[in-house]
Amino acid sequence: MSEENFKVTPWEIEGKVDYQKLIKQFGTSELNKQMLEKLRSKTKSKKLHPFFRRGFIYSHRDFNKILEDIDQNNFFIYTGRGPSGKMHIGHLIPFIISKWFQDEFDCNVYIAMADDEKFVFKDKLSFEEMEKNKKDNFLDISAVGFDTDKTFFFSDMEYIQKLYPVALQFAKRTTFSTAKAVFGFNNDSNLGQFFYPAVQVAPTTFEKKHCLIPAGIDQDPYWRIQRDNAEKLGYKKVVAVHNKLLPPLQGIEGKMSSSTEETAIFLDDDSKTVEKKINKYAFSGGQPTLEEQKKKGGNTEVCVVYSWLEILFEESDEKLEQRKKDCKSGKILCGECKKYLAEKISQTLKKHQEAKIKNSPLVEKYKYSGKLAQKMWK
Ligand code: TYM
Repeated sequence: MSEENFKVTPWEIEGKVDYQKLIKQFGTSELNKQMLEKLRSKTKSKKLHPFFRRGFIYSHRDFNKILEDIDQNNFFIYTGRGPSGKMHIGHLIPFIISKWFQDEFDCNVYIAMADDEKFVFKDKLSFEEMEKNKKDNFLDISAVGFDTDKTFFFSDMEYIQKLYPVALQFAKRTTFSTAKAVFGFNNDSNLGQFFYPAVQVAPTTFEKKHCLIPAGIDQDPYWRIQRDNAEKLGYKKVVAVHNKLLPPLQGIEGKMSSSTEETAIFLDDDSKTVEKKINKYAFSGGQPTLEEQKKKGGNTEVCVVYSWLEILFEESDEKLEQRKKDCKSGKILCGECKKYLAEKISQTLKKHQEAKIKNSPLVEKYKYSGKLAQKMWK
C-alpha cells in the first residue's frame, strides 16, 4: 500500500480513500468553479448535473481542451463496463452522466463491454456465466435511454478485429515495468492481464475528435497508458472526468462492491430487499441514544444515508440542505432518513426496471442497426 495508507486500482480498493490525496497520487487536477461555470453556460439546459454541482465528479485530465470549443461538438464519449456479475447502483453513475453529455451536446457515445477483462481477472468466471452477465448488463445500460443513432454498444470479444490493430500499437509502446508500476501487476499476473489495458484504450481513437471519458477515478491508470503514448502514435490524448466511488452501506470511505452483497444495492433489488438492507446495514451519523441525538444532532459527514441522498437520490438542493440542518440540530432521527432513502431508492429502481424491459428491443440497435453502430461495423 502507498504511504497514504490506501490504494486504488481498477480492480481493488484498500484502506480509506482520501480523494484529495488521490488527485496528487494519480497526477490529475481538481475540477474548479470556473470550469464548471463554463460547462454550465454551454449546456442547452443551462444547468449542471448534480454530480458536477455537488462535487461528486471532482477531478479531470485536460477537460479544458473540450471546454475551449465545446460548441463545435468537438468530442465524443467513451465509457464501459466489465461484466463480472449483475450491476449495482454505483456502476450506473458513468452511464447516467454520459447520457447527460449526449442530451446536452448531441455527442456520440461508445460503450464497451469488457468481457475479456473480466475473464482474465476473475479466477472463477466461465465464458457461459460471462455471456449471461453481458446480456443482462447491456439491458441495464440500455435502460439509461441513449440515442439509438448516436450510440454504439460493443463487447471486446465480438469487436476485437477492429480494436486489435490500435491495441497492438499501444501494447508495443508499453513496457513491462510501466505496466507493473501503473497497474500493480506482479509475478502472479497472467498474460491476459498484461495485454488487456491496450484493448481498453483502443476505443479512445474511434473518432478524430477529443475522446472524453466519464468514469470512476479507479479507471484512471488506463488513461495514463493512453496519454503517455497517444501523440507519438498520431492520436489525441484522452480527456477524462472522474467520479468518486459510491460508498457501500457500511461506511463512507469504501467503494460499493458486488462481492459484499449485503452492502450493495443491485439494480434488480425489489423494495423489500432495499428496505431490509438500508435498515440493517446503512451506517448513519447518529448518536448512541435518542436523547443524545436530540441534544447533539447527527453527523452528515460520516453518514452513508445522507451521502447516498446527496449523490444519487435527492434531486432537490433545497430539500437536501434542509435535511442537513435538521440532522445537525437533532430535529430528525436516523430512522426517518433511512425510511426516506429506502423509498427514494425503490422509486428509482422501479423506474429503472420498467425502462429495462421497455428498452430491451433497443439493444440490437445500439449494437448493430442504429446509424452509429452500422458505421462502426463497416
Ligand atoms: P466496472 O464494470 O468495474 O465499472 C463500471 C464503471 O462504474 C464505475 N464504478 C463506480 N462508480 C461509482 N461508484 C462505485 N461504487 C463504482 N464502482 C464502479 C467504474 O469506475 C466504471 O467507470 N475496466 C472497466 C470497463 C471499461 C471501461 C472502459 C470503464 C472498459 N472500457 C472505459 C470506463 C471507461 C470496468 O471493469 O468497469
